[in-house]
Amino acid sequence: MLSGGKVGLRARHEDDVPILHTELHDDVTTHARANGRPWRPVARDAKDPPFSVKEEDERFVPFSVVDLAGGTLLGSAVLWDIDTHNRSAHIGLGLRPSARGKGYGADVVAVLCHYGFVVRGLHRLQIETLSDNIAMLRSAERNGFVREGVLRSSGWVMGEFMDEVLLGLLAQDWKPDARD
Ligand SMILES: CC(C)(COP(=O)(O)OP(=O)(O)OC[C@H]1O[C@@H](n2cnc3c(N)ncnc32)[C@H](O)[C@@H]1OP(=O)(O)O)[C@@H](O)C(=O)NCCC(=O)NCCS
Repeated sequence: MLSGGKVGLRARHEDDVPILHTELHDDVTTHARANGRPWRPVARDAKDPPFSVKEEDERFVPFSVVDLAGGTLLGSAVLWDIDTHNRSAHIGLGLRPSARGKGYGADVVAVLCHYGFVVRGLHRLQIETLSDNIAMLRSAERNGFVREGVLRSSGWVMGEFMDEVLLGLLAQDWKPDARD
């Protein structure tokens, strides 16, 4: 397990899947805001439900986020589109509703940075988020991510186009204990 100040990032357990499915996938608005793909209903016993770990994919590393103190499941985190030639990857995370607003987000981003830069030797990490997702923007910026641009009207979200902000962090600029 990888540890931050308050959270741990561990492998996805089978018991995590129905909880993440109900609280993150089945919440259509959260899904629409956090995921670039269209929402559709998926049965719990579907062949490849969201959040289940599929066969190993070199470009996609999923984690479950847990509370370090008690081990409670807090959400999901992922390094995706890992590109070993350009040594870059994207970060994604989603916390359970009960875990939001408590400062876990920045800690999860910090642990994903440690995984990307230290464990995987990547050079660049990237985040795209809706321009009104202040909690995500702040969680990224506290770890040193900088806004590199706005992707105008790039996300179709529940009936309207929204801007996304592109944030990046280079290994050389990363300060492991910053989180200011
Ligand atoms: C986005 C997410 C990961 C952020 O994690 P979090 O732990 O809930 O973040 P917090 O509520 O602690 O907020 C982080 C910071 O943003 C600030 N913030 C949050 N909402 C704010 C608002 N509306 N206005 C001003 N500041 C705000 C908080 O005060 C906090 O500031 P601090 O770091 O200076 O203390 C989490 O809310 C989540 O999973 N949301 C649903 C899924 C999602 O949007 N995923 C991201 C997709 S790209």
